[in-house]
Amino acid sequence: MKIREIQDEILQKKRENDIFVLAHSYQSREIIEIADFTGDSFQLSLAAKKAGSKKIVMCGVRFMAETVKILSPDKSVSLANPKAGCPMAEQHDKTLIQAVKDQYPDYTVVAYINTTAELKTVCDVCVTSSSAVKIVSKIPSGNILFLPDCNLGAYVANLLPEKNIKLLQGGCPIHAAVDAGDVDKARADYPDALLLVHPECVPEVTHLADFVGSTSAIAEYAVNSENKSFIIGTEISIAEHLRYRCRDKKFFCLSKKLLCPNMKITTLIDVLDCVNGDGGEEITLDEKTLNEARVCIDKMMELGA
Ligand code: 13P
Ligand code: SF4
Repeated sequence: MKIREIQDEILQKKRENDIFVLAHSYQSREIIEIADFTGDSFQLSLAAKKAGSKKIVMCGVRFMAETVKILSPDKSVSLANPKAGCPMAEQHDKTLIQAVKDQYPDYTVVAYINTTAELKTVCDVCVTSSSAVKIVSKIPSGNILFLPDCNLGAYVANLLPEKNIKLLQGGCPIHAAVDAGDVDKARADYPDALLLVHPECVPEVTHLADFVGSTSAIAEYAVNSENKSFIIGTEISIAEHLRYRCRDKKFFCLSKKLLCPNMKITTLIDVLDCVNGDGGEEITLDEKTLNEARVCIDKMMELGA
């Protein structure tokens, strides 16, 4: 079967069954083409909430599908490929974080959205890469415990020196693999290009960047910039998608190490099986987890607005 034929079948099933397909911006081109909405993790949750459809299919990783379910508990939310997980989201467990909280009762626990629904139940407020600085700056307490991404946490701490931010060890193994040596090489190869990186990169990389932002913020920056070439310091698909969006500009990937296997595991066939009802996994969270995890997401909405 040709890619176009599979896409047409998916589009037809979506229409027949009123299914809304979400794709994170790290997904492949052929999936993005059939999605109803593509964006960063925060934008995906909002789009799902606003969507009229009762059935949502998430092409991304598990924590994204869980977040959609927490925000839209009455909708049926399926993860197109059940094996797609984010290793960072599973780095800390609830018991450990509860113990740390008990030890530091006057600290506000800030969780990056890349966490399991279970872990969110013991966190005070959630942040995304696009909202972290704004939200942490608005938290009344000066004492913050930030998890699980110590690189995003360090980026926030650098911009908000008035806050006492404790970081737990953790982070994205893909972004953390890139170092200053990769930046030096890319700058030497593409001297006219601006370097745009994700805050999940290590501080030695974010300090050298011309712009630091979420996947969507990086794309918007490149689209609106007068500059004609860019080194993209996040998952390789962003550089590829931008080449389609801006034919007059050049996009180079900061490093070949920036390939997230979990984001690439979902195929067009998985999406077809999922919309046909014989693939994917419907996300189920018990009432208690849904209600407790929603508290820190609601707080994120309130402070991020
Ligand atoms: P965004 O929130 O920027 O989409 O990032 C999600 C992610 O997993 C980045 O690696
Ligand atoms: Fe998780 Fe990193 Fe992959 Fe994003 S790129 S989904 S943070 S492993």
